[in-house]
Amino acid sequence: MSQFITKDKRTHYCGSLTSVDDGKEVILMGWAHRRRDHGGVIFVDLRDREGIVQIVFNPEAGETVHGEAHKIRSEYVLAVKGKVRKRPEGMDNPALATGQVEVVISELEILNESKTPPFSFDDEEISENIRLKYRYLDLRRPAIQQNLFLRSRLASATRHYFEDNGFIEVETPFLTKSTPEGARDYLVPSRVSKGMFYALPQSPQIFKQLLMVSGFDRYFQIVKCFRDEDLRADRQPEFTQIDVEMSFITEEDIMKMMEGLMATIFRACMGRELSLPLPRLTYADAISRYGKDNPDVRFGMEIVDLTAIVKDSGFKLFAEVAASGGLIKAIKAENAASLSRKDLDGLKDFVAIYGAKGLAWAKVNATDWTSPIFKFLQPAEVSAIGQTMDAKEGDVIFFVADTAKVVHDSLGNLRINLAKKLNLIDPEALAFTWITEFPLMEYSETDKRFVSTHHPFTSPFIEDLPLMTTDPGKVRAKAYDLVLNGSEIGGGSIRIHRKDVQAQVFSALGLSDDEAKLKFGFLLDALEYGAPPHGGLAFGLDRLTMIMTKTESIRDVIAFPKTQKAACLLSDAPSKVSIEQLMELSLKIIV
Ligand code: AMO
Ligand code: AMP
Repeated sequence: MSQFITKDKRTHYCGSLTSVDDGKEVILMGWAHRRRDHGGVIFVDLRDREGIVQIVFNPEAGETVHGEAHKIRSEYVLAVKGKVRKRPEGMDNPALATGQVEVVISELEILNESKTPPFSFDDEEISENIRLKYRYLDLRRPAIQQNLFLRSRLASATRHYFEDNGFIEVETPFLTKSTPEGARDYLVPSRVSKGMFYALPQSPQIFKQLLMVSGFDRYFQIVKCFRDEDLRADRQPEFTQIDVEMSFITEEDIMKMMEGLMATIFRACMGRELSLPLPRLTYADAISRYGKDNPDVRFGMEIVDLTAIVKDSGFKLFAEVAASGGLIKAIKAENAASLSRKDLDGLKDFVAIYGAKGLAWAKVNATDWTSPIFKFLQPAEVSAIGQTMDAKEGDVIFFVADTAKVVHDSLGNLRINLAKKLNLIDPEALAFTWITEFPLMEYSETDKRFVSTHHPFTSPFIEDLPLMTTDPGKVRAKAYDLVLNGSEIGGGSIRIHRKDVQAQVFSALGLSDDEAKLKFGFLLDALEYGAPPHGGLAFGLDRLTMIMTKTESIRDVIAFPKTQKAACLLSDAPSKVSIEQLMELSLKIIV
């Protein structure tokens, strides 16, 4: 066994050395990041989780050490003893945190050899599939290690915050019954009860409500959730929530507690102070002004309603859309005259993705517009639009006329597309917004009935209850999402704790008593035994980490993530199982 491990213990991390350590005798252990042979003198960049330091093998160290140093290759595992010295004048490496020093080695032990890695850790262009297949090597890259360090600090700050505020962490089951979050379940077959399945939880929703019924009062958990849904850059089939539930509270109490959490973690992980309370927008305002319920408010370019101005327009299309109950709305890109005709045509294709049948635009000049629709508009319209939009020379206005949904989807996304193109987003900004007053239910064209916007235990505004039978789409929910930089980082609600209200909601959702019982029976039973008023929220821990680390993909903040196809390239999951395993479960593969 290596004497360096058994007797002469490591004294420092490579990345921790600074000029303060000048003259110290140190023992370091780590990986050979790079080796350079300078005719006699051998330099190695030695790397551990704290960073890289240059170590130097002089011929004077003697043939044993120097000869051994010749054998070092990329990613060999080394233990070394040596003396820290300031680098000679002019030889500092400002790219390294340890760049003012180097360590002159007197003893070396190669603890392990390594095959040549399949990719260079400095190569940013390497395909993600290769990186995921060799994830244990990919995780040696300092940038990814930093992401995981930050993630760990985030979890730790969260636990401290909740402990300080009287919450207890309770684990809830993974092998359970289907939960009502609305995605597809991952199912696990039961061996003992043939033909029966567990569902992996999409969230601990029902269990945390049960804990409130049991009187725990304040619960939190950092917990894995499983959802079989279409994956995107900010979605994984298994992801982590910071899950919270509280009793005897209102929305205000929860939002305040969560703002405290945000302030704590942003201070702990990023040294950033948040100004509280965080801004709020109602759902209706968010859609109307930003076209989305996860608006990015790091920049302006709000959506403006021009329907009243153009309802009798000389431009037939606008007048017709207004007459048929649609909307004509617009956004203004300031100082965007540099957008070429080709750019503008490209944007027409972009909004078509969201269903827009066209995109009218107007370049604002000193006295008129350059625009395909200018000739159709009356001078009074042009001037009213210019005034409402506060348009100046050099601005470009984009118009969409369609149903409310298409107008908001297309302008909401165009707004973001333009902000990126025109560089309007401050990468350092932290723009939080609570979204409140969501609709309780939405009409689903596919199901031909109303479906819950969140889940069926979300409390309606009590004053909206009369609308439940007359105009269910108008009933507001006591639900709130927290959005950061255009990403939904959390969401929750006050729950229904009374049976009569729950019955009304189930009936509006077209769920019979029997169906409701079959799906959520154990929660409904529990609510009949003195459930306290309660509510909660869950944050997506991965998404929060992603924003804090400024990474583009949720995979960069998860140690062992899955691909867009929900596969783990490292372990090769999912994979086939043996006939014996299938028989034990009484399962037969039919396709
Ligand atoms: P919700 O479904 O809104 O609420 O989820 C809460 C937060 O979890 C994150 N999130 C995800 N992150 C990564 N990958 C996914 N596939 C994924 N899905 C969701 C989001 C989201 O805001 N039980 C309720 C909470 C409650 O009502 O208390 C729930 O799960 O950041
Ligand atoms: P047209 O008369 O069809 O050439 O249209 C004139 C301009 O209006 C073009 O720039 C079209 O892109 C635009 N346009 C067409 N349909 C719409 C719509 N639904 N909303 C906004 N602009 C549109």
